[in-house]
Amino acid sequence: MRSPAVYGNWKMNLDFVEAVHLTQELGVLLRRTPLEHVEVGVAPPFVDLRSVSSVIEADRLGLVLCAQHVNEYEAGAHTGEVSLAMLERLGVGAVLVGHSERRRLYGMDDALVARTLARVAGAGLRAILCVGEDLAVREAGGEAAFVAEQLRAAIAGLAEGARARVTVAYEPLWAIGTGVVAEPAQVAAQNESIRSTLAGLGFDAPVLYGGSVTAENATDLARDGALDGFLVGGASLRAEAFHAICRALDDCYASTR
Ligand code: 13P
Repeated sequence: MRSPAVYGNWKMNLDFVEAVHLTQELGVLLRRTPLEHVEVGVAPPFVDLRSVSSVIEADRLGLVLCAQHVNEYEAGAHTGEVSLAMLERLGVGAVLVGHSERRRLYGMDDALVARTLARVAGAGLRAILCVGEDLAVREAGGEAAFVAEQLRAAIAGLAEGARARVTVAYEPLWAIGTGVVAEPAQVAAQNESIRSTLAGLGFDAPVLYGGSVTAENATDLARDGALDGFLVGGASLRAEAFHAICRALDDCYASTR
């Protein structure tokens, strides 16, 4: 496990007042029981970023402010979109790229994922590249090949200098928001395959797992899943649950060093 990290993806939940409360609650828990090794980030909706950023700064929380998405272009006639420069001004340090909900519901194809990844990582921000197969692919036994193709499509054209800024998040669609968490052995197998695909492309990146992660299953996943951390949806909306997941990873990392 290298540079362990946990990021909370709040998706389209919490208005800015609720977002401030959650960040403050998380801050209290992090002060009470600090983490030794794990980097923690939160990805609020765009409209909450400014408020969450203020709390992180004022309370010196050391949280990484993440965005859930960004437009591929610099500026201009893209109604409803947000640019990377706007996010950087708010102190955003990491961006989710190609989350399955963007791919599935908002037409983000592999080519757009690749261009967005290049923009984010090229600008020096951490790019959290989301990949994962759906149930039909998994049932047909094609999960390793499917994810390998997603990785190749996203990464193949990435400039050498941008590669160190990529983190991969393996999020099988059948485990997202379903309560059906992948078995640690399934996660470990897919992570091994992801690492070998990355090695074939000439680089290495931290690999996170996401999909129904909870405080209850985090320890088993962290211990047996051969992963570097988590991307957490539902459980990241509750400070205690999210903090417990971060602690589980922190303890696991400390015990394997
Ligand atoms: P859940 O943890 O709610 O399954 O969501 C996972 C996810 O999509 C994080 O990006």
